Amino acid sequence: MQQIWTPSTWRDRPMAQVPDFADKEQLRLVEERLASYPPLVFAGEVRALKARLASVAEGKALLLQGGDCAESFAEHGADNIRDMFRVFLQMAVVLTFAASRPVVKIGRIAGQFAKPRSTPMEKQGDIELLSYHGDVINGIEFTPEARAPDPARQEMVYRQSAATLNLLRAFAQGGYANLENVHTWMLNFVEGSPEGQSYHVIANRITETLAFMRAINLDPELHPELSRTDFYTSHEALLLGYEEALTRVDSTSGDWYATSGHMLWIGDRTRQPDHAHVEFCRGVKNPIGLKCGPSLEADTLLRLTDILNPANEPGRLTLIARFGYDQVGDKLPALIRAIEREGRQVVWSCDPMHGNTIKAGNGYKTRPFERISREIKDFFAIHRAEGTIAGGVHIEMSGSDVTECTGGAGGLTEIDLPNRYLTHCDPRLNANQALELAFMIAGLLKNEAEHKSLR
Ligand code: PEP
Ligand code: CO
Repeated sequence: MQQIWTPSTWRDRPMAQVPDFADKEQLRLVEERLASYPPLVFAGEVRALKARLASVAEGKALLLQGGDCAESFAEHGADNIRDMFRVFLQMAVVLTFAASRPVVKIGRIAGQFAKPRSTPMEKQGDIELLSYHGDVINGIEFTPEARAPDPARQEMVYRQSAATLNLLRAFAQGGYANLENVHTWMLNFVEGSPEGQSYHVIANRITETLAFMRAINLDPELHPELSRTDFYTSHEALLLGYEEALTRVDSTSGDWYATSGHMLWIGDRTRQPDHAHVEFCRGVKNPIGLKCGPSLEADTLLRLTDILNPANEPGRLTLIARFGYDQVGDKLPALIRAIEREGRQVVWSCDPMHGNTIKAGNGYKTRPFERISREIKDFFAIHRAEGTIAGGVHIEMSGSDVTECTGGAGGLTEIDLPNRYLTHCDPRLNANQALELAFMIAGLLKNEAEHKSLR
């Protein structure tokens, strides 16, 4: 029997990764105000996303989740949001064609502001301060003032998330997502890429299909739905006071929904079954992601699926494997087999970023593109060997020309990293690397389709 849940039962559980706020009264007042503000997303949208994830679990759609490691107050411009959305759509179009399946698009955006850290304190010279935990908790500057957790930041995050969502909704529904626009952007990328030749097969297929659609009058002028798309938001549910304040009862179903974003996930460092983060997430009806890293044992995973998805509802739980290219082969099969043996309905997604972070010779945190693609390839190969469904990918990416991950066709090296290393936390793929990855995955999907038709 599971115990009673309310949006605040997490408060009685042990909790990792959330620093203490000195001014409890200020924190309480901020949470009280947040609880009176309008929701950022609606229960109906959240249910629609869950249904779409259920089709990913069945192999009828593909999941693409991605965005910043951490959003920031400093980088909140329309251009950043537009550029990220534009690359995201291009990736989605490439994947849709390759998979002949719809792509469920979920951004790490409009709420992704809280960060777990591998070390709680950061030392520079003789000075030791609390690590940066994301703009919703403290500031990135290495000063005692900036690093002190400040509750006022939560209202900034709420407002920034609302503004970001507003623009995303406009882009997704107002014509910017027009399939022909996306196609033109993609062709520009293909032309400019040193690897462009190998993308031509897919790019040409897309061009021909669009020409065919126009020929039969399936064009955006007559069919406005071709100019629209669905785009959902997600973030790590780390700062539970903020999440609780935005958790509301849906009047149609009487159920509790987190309204800070459509999908929430539990990080690899906060997935202890009896701790606060799992307790909070089990009670809200949103789709939940669970990061699965190398230390996760199969029996703990089954316990977590019991707690988080007791009704075994498809679309509720997405397992986000993030083992690293060197461990995915050792660790993933046992987890897949345990889930299969027990008949659990899940989406399997691959986060090829968080297990592949290394420190470059010049001290920058980076991720080699080759390791990222290798983990994805192995993830797909393992699912094929197990007869299970590789549901999609979860990546950290930027829409601009950052220099944070090495490798890719552009040949970015460690020496280039300082040029535009803008991330507030982990290294992201830049726009070209992200598209290159989409074409690489498209190749895998094509092989998979051929493999199926041979059986
Ligand atoms: C993240 O997704 O930014 C993150 C911190 O991931 P993980 O919990 O898998 O380390
Ligand atoms: Co990250």
